[in-house]
Amino acid sequence: MKNVLVIGASGQIGSELVLALRNKLGGSHVVATHLRTPLSAEIAESGPSYKIDASQAQEIADVVKKHDIDLIYNLAAILSATAEANPMLGWNVGMGTLLNCLEVAREFNAALFTPSSIGAFGPGTPPDNTPQDTIQRPKTIYGVTKVAGELLSDYYFKRFGVDTRSVRYPGLISNKTLPGGGTTDYAVEIYYAAVKGEKFVCPLKKGTFMDMMYMPDAINAAIDLMEVSPDRLIHRNSFNVTAMSFDPEIIYTEIKKHYPNFMMEYEVHPLKQSIADSWPNSMDDTCARKEWGWNPKFDLKAMTEDMIKELKKKLL
Ligand code: NAD
Ligand code: SER
Repeated sequence: MKNVLVIGASGQIGSELVLALRNKLGGSHVVATHLRTPLSAEIAESGPSYKIDASQAQEIADVVKKHDIDLIYNLAAILSATAEANPMLGWNVGMGTLLNCLEVAREFNAALFTPSSIGAFGPGTPPDNTPQDTIQRPKTIYGVTKVAGELLSDYYFKRFGVDTRSVRYPGLISNKTLPGGGTTDYAVEIYYAAVKGEKFVCPLKKGTFMDMMYMPDAINAAIDLMEVSPDRLIHRNSFNVTAMSFDPEIIYTEIKKHYPNFMMEYEVHPLKQSIADSWPNSMDDTCARKEWGWNPKFDLKAMTEDMIKELKKKLL
């Protein structure tokens, strides 16, 4: 990777990925783009940036050509709960931007990383220790776009030789940018409530297990997978990756070690609960570990300590 483009740089992942890549490659080599939400001042001031609509292929192509881009991170998407409220939008953004990125990558010989998700699995998938290669019949439009995206990305690799790679991220927890309307957002919001001294109202019921990951590990996954020699890859789109699995009681108990008076009550959100129930409890990420050395650093304890330390600086 010499010159990198990050589409969706004001989002939860993009806002941290751009800065990590600029630290590694130098500010001028990492181009950030946004659409509706403005970029952070740190991103706007540390390298090139553009406002582009990735549903217009020409807008992507112009930036790729101008900056001699050899790797595109396509982070444009509508997350699970929001997409379920507007399925056409979820499909159009998820698939439209991906197809455009694939075509631009093909034309300019660039590699492409587009995240998939635990949402690519569904009620028929084995929920425990979910295998890398298994049944994928999701019940959400978000999941349908993720499965279609995995297939389309593999197709572009096999048919046209485009270097497409991807991971199935679990719920991502971060202290910089709030998540964009997913089912796993509660695992971020619970930390904000604890640090602000507020009671947390949990939208998912006790016993709802899902895979999760702290953002520094997610950023490393995005960078490490794109750097590994292609000879090592048996899979491409997409690798299971996980760092921990918990339910609301387990994360609440961990946070209570720091805030003994922290209160949580349950008010189940039926849509989010039904989505969460259709996703794995815990994934098997052995293939990612073997094929490109995936090895997350943060477990629940380490993540909780860091989240609380960083949110105290930000909020208090
Ligand atoms: P986000 O919602 O925070 O950010 C997505 C960004 O895409 C937004 O800034 C939005 O403005 C931009 N965007 C939307 N439509 C666009 C368009 N037409 N042109 C250009 N930009 C557009 O999402 P995120 O959490 O950063 O997720 C990024 C990717 O990772 C998505 O594919 C998502 O499905 C996947 N993912 C995220 C998580 C998570 O927990 N955050 C988990 C699994 C997978
Ligand atoms: N965090 C994402 C969501 O809940 C998982 O893909 O939509």
